Amino acid sequence: MKFFLILCMASSLFAAGQNEGSINNPEVNLYSHRHYDVDQKLYDQFYIETGIKVNVIKAGADELLERIKNEGPNSPADILLTVDAGRLYKAQSLGLLQPISSAVLTESIPSHLRHPEGYWFGLTKRARVIAYHKDRVDPAELSTYEELTDSKWEGRIAVRSSSNIYNQSLMASIIAAHGKDAAGLWAEKIVSNMFREPRGNDRDQVKSVAAGQADLAIINTYYLGNLLNSADSEEVSAGKQIALFFPNQKDRGTHINVSGAGVTAYAPNKENAIQLLEFLTSIEAQTIYAQENYEYPVRENVRPSELVASWGLFKEDRINMDLLGQLNVEAVIEFDKAGWK
Ligand SMILES: [Fe+2]
Repeated sequence: MKFFLILCMASSLFAAGQNEGSINNPEVNLYSHRHYDVDQKLYDQFYIETGIKVNVIKAGADELLERIKNEGPNSPADILLTVDAGRLYKAQSLGLLQPISSAVLTESIPSHLRHPEGYWFGLTKRARVIAYHKDRVDPAELSTYEELTDSKWEGRIAVRSSSNIYNQSLMASIIAAHGKDAAGLWAEKIVSNMFREPRGNDRDQVKSVAAGQADLAIINTYYLGNLLNSADSEEVSAGKQIALFFPNQKDRGTHINVSGAGVTAYAPNKENAIQLLEFLTSIEAQTIYAQENYEYPVRENVRPSELVASWGLFKEDRINMDLLGQLNVEAVIEFDKAGWK
């Protein structure tokens, strides 16, 4: 018994010695693909409240995955924060994340917006919707993603490339709803209704609508907020010419996605990482995200900003985000077969 106690003391002393640096100067290392000012504001607030410093390393989404993979067990990364469930799925399937069990997180985040076993958690939410020109399209003509295949939309749709993860996740949701053959056919018909081969990002699709080249664009909701609040007056004008339509309200709901984060497999500051994720899903942090970023909070008891709320309430597709990742490979295959560049 005595020997056992000594052993325990020795090992806890050893552990304390190893973590001495992080106990004196607690920190958490965050690898982030997000590039918003609001994020830094939240990390500063977290430091004020907990004394834990958030070191942020920013890079492209694929670059961050590659980096964590190459660093292996020596990676200083504690958290990977990225956009789109498809990427979070990829990180998990590469073995870069570890499951976290936190009652705070499971109570704050609806189950469809987090990994079933806790490998990652949605922090903010966005919807992929139809942006239409207010003068050239009557919203009564719109209904579902499926209806966009109608020949009346020929040459009128602006949408970005199929290499984009937002489109891949939308396609995954259509595969989940109808099976891959029907989804492939859907993609083929959308291609034939495009006004040109896909080019640019969601913002550029809205600009094409404003320029009169197309009448509809498929975009993530927050892009409208970004355009309306842009320093570039042309972007503001483009944003003012369009309105958002939330498809599939009478069936499964509008396709949504998250930006989210997971604790890395070898996180050296795991407890601090969990604390940061819990903070980011608190009412306080969710309110800050909502007010400054035109995204929807994941918490159901936090309101979106006034602008975002003005786009209206909508029913969302409550498919588990993880399934979108599972269907990603099939989505890419069907896109290729359909000739969606
Ligand atoms: Fe985006």
